[in-house]
Amino acid sequence: MIIGNWKLNHLKAQTLEVLDQLIAGLGDLELAVAPVVTLLGLACERVRGTKLKIAAQNVFYASHGAYTGEWSVGHLKELGVSMAIIGHSERRQYFCETSESVAQKSKACLDGGLTPIVCIGESLSERESGKARQVIEKQLEPVLKINPPEKLVIAYEPVWAIGTGKNATPEEIQEMHAFLRAHTSTKTRLLYGGSVNANNAAQVLGVPNVDGALVGGASLEARSLLAIARAVSK
Ligand code: PGA
Repeated sequence: MIIGNWKLNHLKAQTLEVLDQLIAGLGDLELAVAPVVTLLGLACERVRGTKLKIAAQNVFYASHGAYTGEWSVGHLKELGVSMAIIGHSERRQYFCETSESVAQKSKACLDGGLTPIVCIGESLSERESGKARQVIEKQLEPVLKINPPEKLVIAYEPVWAIGTGKNATPEEIQEMHAFLRAHTSTKTRLLYGGSVNANNAAQVLGVPNVDGALVGGASLEARSLLAIARAVSK
């Protein structure tokens, strides 16, 4: 499972252009991309009838009510969105997302038929002080308390590896993913994220218990996202 997180990039014309290029090169590859929320409807229309899936970068947990500026699982479902990234470290850092709200959002997704991609990851100082596992455990605890682990997709993204060009080593990834596997289910899909690109994808995805990747920067162009997906499918 390879998911491209486009973050706050690509206006309408670029979004459609890259989607068309992805569709043209897709073949049997399994891919999803997460455009900006305002373009989700258009993106879903564009990929209809193809294998390319569309993900949202966020969703609120309530189905409706007085929550100015939010959108619900129902809103995403009626567009044709099939999954939602929840609790990305940038949401936690800039938009006060907590592990409790991440848990509620994941539950809302599962209840409403969307696949939640739950992001977790430690900061550099947390890793350097030997607290990486503790942090991950704490982020996961509320999520696993109210959600069946086998239904979740969990993306381990060390914050220090996001957008930095710095990968976690295969050993670091293996250790954390083994820990995650032990805390979840054999059916939980565990993704790795953080500076994954066409050159390192095969190595990262070859690590035991890595079932896919969440890709930021290298997903913005169809060519590199397709190259990642191809490297993995080999
Ligand atoms: P990156 O981002 O691939 O640019 O490091 C990954 C992410 O934020 O999901």
